[in-house]
Amino acid sequence: ETVEYAAESYDMGGHDTYMHKEISEQADAVDRALRGRIDDRFSTVHLGGLNLDAREARGVRRVKILGCGTSYHAGQIGAQMIEELARIPSDAEPASEFRYRNPVVDPDTLYVAVSQSGETYDVLAAVQELKRKGARVLGLVNVVGSAIARETDGGIYVHAGPEVCVVSTKCFTNMVVSFALLALHLGRIRDLSVADGKRIIEGLRKLPGQIDEILKGEDEVKKLAAHYADAKSMMFIGRVRGYPVAREASLKLKEVSYIHAEAYPASELKHGPLALIEPAMPTVAIVPDDDLLEKNRAALEEIKARSGRILAVAHQEQEKADHTIVVPKNEPELDPILMGIPLQLLAYHTALALGRDIDKPRNLAKSVTVE
Ligand code: G6P
Repeated sequence: ETVEYAAESYDMGGHDTYMHKEISEQADAVDRALRGRIDDRFSTVHLGGLNLDAREARGVRRVKILGCGTSYHAGQIGAQMIEELARIPSDAEPASEFRYRNPVVDPDTLYVAVSQSGETYDVLAAVQELKRKGARVLGLVNVVGSAIARETDGGIYVHAGPEVCVVSTKCFTNMVVSFALLALHLGRIRDLSVADGKRIIEGLRKLPGQIDEILKGEDEVKKLAAHYADAKSMMFIGRVRGYPVAREASLKLKEVSYIHAEAYPASELKHGPLALIEPAMPTVAIVPDDDLLEKNRAALEEIKARSGRILAVAHQEQEKADHTIVVPKNEPELDPILMGIPLQLLAYHTALALGRDIDKPRNLAKSVTVE
């Protein structure tokens, strides 16, 4: 049993598909996630529904994020942001894995359930199990008043607005932005400096304009999609901040285009997947201009040496890549928010070129409310 959204009841606003509409409205969506939450006086953010006072926030010793599909990938980026900005050990796990392995539930861990619909059964069941064992669980949810929003102790609404296309785009982006807000909030209660708080706030404010800038490059991405649409399989690689971006981009391509794709940490290539590299298996590489740039360039060289085709998403043209999509630079911690956006467009235009049913890919449902 699945929840069917009444697609007809939403206006497509001149777009041919909801996916295209939802990709296009991300600047507004991010703006909504930020609105009313920034506190310049203390270089932090206010999250009204958190129900976690400063003393409790300081007592958090670990953060465990639970979600499924795209939401799980948003959680992986979120965990890195919380570790970086708040220095609290954090990780994300698929909610279904968590609930089937009799997890150790620790009173000093803050659990975060992340879900667009707020109705995904595996996530809801994990929340209920955690509550039964006395844990504190927050929700990071899009649909207001949904089951997960009601069952959690508090949380953050991501304010992406209604998302109709089965595959998630704008909600993913807003989830990651919401995690950045949570990370900043926890960081500023702990040891994140005023200067770093300011730096992140300035970065957050730049996001909507930068998203629009990326979306203006759609025609170029469309050409690239036509170029790579003949691939039987695609490899996505990234390192640390870039790795969950690669995972989500790979999932997006699989879901809408039905092209097989897999994602690997760039450093793991040499431990197996390099055997697959040949011209018929192009690689999409996430190459931010951060302290891992040289390491990433070395991975591109390894791929080139095996005649692999490379599409890089980077802050500057990559010499070893066949094509580079250049995205604007933000603060390194926030770069993952922007680097996935051109790859949503790549998935979309690849699916379009292959004549796929973009808003309702075969075998998938927007919301999986059964086990
Ligand atoms: C389904 C959808 C995915 C989504 C996942 C989690 O599998 O097809 O796009 O990421 O459920 O959904 P949620 O509503 O919990 O974010």
